[in-house]
Amino acid sequence: MASRKYDLVVFGATGFTGRLVVEYYLRTYGPPSPSFQWAIAGRNQDKLRKVIQELETHKGVPESKYLETLIGSSEDSVFLDALTKQTKVVVTTVGPYGKYGSKLVAACAANGTHYADLTGEVPWIAKMIASHENTAQASGARILHCCGFDSEPSDLGAHVLYNAMQKRGLTPTEIKFVLGSSQGGVSGGTVHSLADAMMSPVEEMTNPYILLPDKKKGSMTVKQTRGVWWDQDVRRWNAPFIMAGINTRVVARSSHLMDRVPFTYLETHSFPKGLWGCLQACMLTVAVGVAMVSMAIPPIRWIVLKVIPPGSGPSENARKKGYALIYLVGKGLNKEGKEEVVKGSVRISGDPGYQETAKMLAETGMALAKDKLSVQGGFHTPASALGDTLVARLKRRNLIIEVEE
Ligand SMILES: NC(=O)c1ccc[n+]([C@@H]2O[C@H](COP(=O)([O-])OP(=O)(O)OC[C@H]3O[C@@H](n4cnc5c(N)ncnc54)[C@H](OP(=O)(O)O)[C@@H]3O)[C@@H](O)[C@H]2O)c1
Repeated sequence: MASRKYDLVVFGATGFTGRLVVEYYLRTYGPPSPSFQWAIAGRNQDKLRKVIQELETHKGVPESKYLETLIGSSEDSVFLDALTKQTKVVVTTVGPYGKYGSKLVAACAANGTHYADLTGEVPWIAKMIASHENTAQASGARILHCCGFDSEPSDLGAHVLYNAMQKRGLTPTEIKFVLGSSQGGVSGGTVHSLADAMMSPVEEMTNPYILLPDKKKGSMTVKQTRGVWWDQDVRRWNAPFIMAGINTRVVARSSHLMDRVPFTYLETHSFPKGLWGCLQACMLTVAVGVAMVSMAIPPIRWIVLKVIPPGSGPSENARKKGYALIYLVGKGLNKEGKEEVVKGSVRISGDPGYQETAKMLAETGMALAKDKLSVQGGFHTPASALGDTLVARLKRRNLIIEVEE
């Protein structure tokens, strides 16, 4: 890539998650410097200045005053063309992505600019792949969607477990992601994005293989789980995991891109053994069903979107108290054809959906900007483009994805 003014630009810096990404970069990598040239972008100069002032006066990050600002809308193709020609990487938190994100993806693909986002809007991702894959391959742009809690723990967790099984001489047959305990909040941007995604055709929402080239099953089989069941591997009650509808699609794409052997993949949300755990799993299953149906009813949807506006999200205190523990279970056949189990975990300290998502997105951006990567341009996944590099980056920042010895 010819030299560009910036290594990286954060677009959407005025939003709830965008502000966390900016704060993370400042605290972790400092203000723009010869070794890391970066800037922030948004559609409103006053709001961007307010972000800088708030970081300076309330958050104790005075270096924010050195940040350059780029002003423009996600609808303005001329601005997006100029933006993506000035930077190696764009990290974007401008969402809902289906509403505001398409022109930026097009500009990155055309100008060979690497891209990372936080979308979980799978039907929109499928559209972006269909429209811009060839252009991105030709320009060298590495385009990465789902670089937050959806879906890096899943994608990188499956990556680490799959490789560990192969290293131990096993042929992987099953990988399971089991959310153990967790605590976190939700932002207005997420609720609005979810509401938008739910307007997609049912067949696009329900096809686990929608991110594969012919939208048909590849080597990996997604196991859909329904209802509540006892899981002997982790000795916990399993219920369906609300984010499985996003994460399983990403892991299926990784498996296709990385030419993995056939195996089954599933995700669950688990609760401790005992009657209370079983009851909690049942209540969650019902609650998720009710929430999904409610959001499809226009008056309820309208009220929810009014009550949780864009820009809102969990408090700093709540973000600090958040966490997630995910159990990873891999099964594979040894040379004698006997099944062996390999276990691992993902350990996240801090609200997974925001504080730690900001970290995941920011480190993905850094890896795209600074690390030596072997993959060519195109629509990748976090695992297929960054794999171990990103796992190591996150580990250095206390987000641990690892296999038990
Ligand atoms: N995958 C995950 O784990 C995860 C976690 C967190 C968030 N997310 C996703 O990330 C996205 C952002 O969430 P959020 O809570 O941070 O949302 P938010 O607070 O509503 O922020 C949205 C940002 O987009 C900007 N924006 C909106 N329309 C624009 C336009 N036409 N041109 C330029 N900028 C525009 C807003 O700018 P203004 O300030 O000027 O309005 C704001 O900076 C959502 O899609 C959400 O689902 C995903």
